[in-house]
Amino acid sequence: MNYNKKTVKDIDVKGKKVLLRCDFNVPQDKATGAITDGKRIVAALPTIQYLLEQGAAVIACSHLGKPKGEWKQSLSLAPVAARLGELLGKDVIFAKDIVGEDAKAKAAALQPGQIMLLENLRFDIGEEKNHPEFAKALADLAEIYVSDAFGTVHRAHASTAGVAAYLPAVSGFLIGKELEIMGSALANPKRPLVAILGGAKVSSKIGVINNLLDIADTIIVGGGMTYTFIKAMGGSVGTSLLESDWLDYCKEMLAKAKEKGVRFLLPVDTLCAAEFSADAKPELVDTMHIPDGRMGMDIGPKTIEAYTDAVKDAGTVIWNGPMGVFEFPAFAEGTRAVAKALAATSAVTIVGGGDSAAAVSQLGFADQMTHISTGGGASLEFLEGKELPGVACLLDR
Ligand code: 3PG
Repeated sequence: MNYNKKTVKDIDVKGKKVLLRCDFNVPQDKATGAITDGKRIVAALPTIQYLLEQGAAVIACSHLGKPKGEWKQSLSLAPVAARLGELLGKDVIFAKDIVGEDAKAKAAALQPGQIMLLENLRFDIGEEKNHPEFAKALADLAEIYVSDAFGTVHRAHASTAGVAAYLPAVSGFLIGKELEIMGSALANPKRPLVAILGGAKVSSKIGVINNLLDIADTIIVGGGMTYTFIKAMGGSVGTSLLESDWLDYCKEMLAKAKEKGVRFLLPVDTLCAAEFSADAKPELVDTMHIPDGRMGMDIGPKTIEAYTDAVKDAGTVIWNGPMGVFEFPAFAEGTRAVAKALAATSAVTIVGGGDSAAAVSQLGFADQMTHISTGGGASLEFLEGKELPGVACLLDR
């Protein structure tokens, strides 16, 4: 996979109409529809501001939620247009449709330095199905395509990949940064490369573990997926999260680590509890011997010490997935300690999106990481080494 792609800095956008794919898939209050976290809108500002300053006319577009080709007022991008306007301090013209009469007329009249936003792309079934007619209709609104929606680069949709067949396609600053930092961490990492993998399920991290075993010097495992590994090694896991279908896979991965000479660290002690609850009383046990009726909820102090030690002299650390149930304060220490260790090391520190990004922000360490990915599913597929349609379609440098 080539991560060396052209960016907005590599082309002349002056006086041009630019179709800008953003990831404005923001969380909303179920009852009122109000945007509850505008981070993704804020993250799009540098590219938007650059394009406007360069004299481009920006036709922004995004999906919101999963309307599956149906027009749903609750998933209209109108509130996003309003928030974007507030943040930019200028009018954001809102089209009532996507490639219909209103969008076409407003795009045609759009002047350099002005910005408009199309209605939710997924209101048209052609978006997710990557229908060429829909991709072409989007492309017809503009002269250049800029993709800055890293969160959707793993989707082969009309606005994330299809449109690039009809327009010169480059990345915005957000994708540019993700490719530069995550791409070099995978292709040419400063060593030793330590990967910390957590989260609930082994099944969701299969591709990541497999790919990183070919690249990393050390792999550290925490979170719910620990227990399938422990069971595969002959340990007892009580009522901990266990994916029996993946026991053989865990054995294979342990064998692969041995064969490749990759240090593979699993928790040696575990904080467990009788029930999955914030009030549950933590009990410290040996990870290989979790008693009947007890479930693992966090890594213990000896494990924290070993994991902290392993990142101290790292050149690069990639972290994806919490070490325990960090949403419950009594079981947040493992995740906090790893975040703290990452903040203290001089290594390049990269936090995969989704839960780990949320944990790092919630625990107050966000500013101390080299890079926190803006993609959830996208950064996972990136770490799997998969070809990402939304990246592959961009012009090579
Ligand atoms: C995300 O929220 O991860 C991206 O916007 C992608 O959304 P999707 O999973 O609905 O494609």
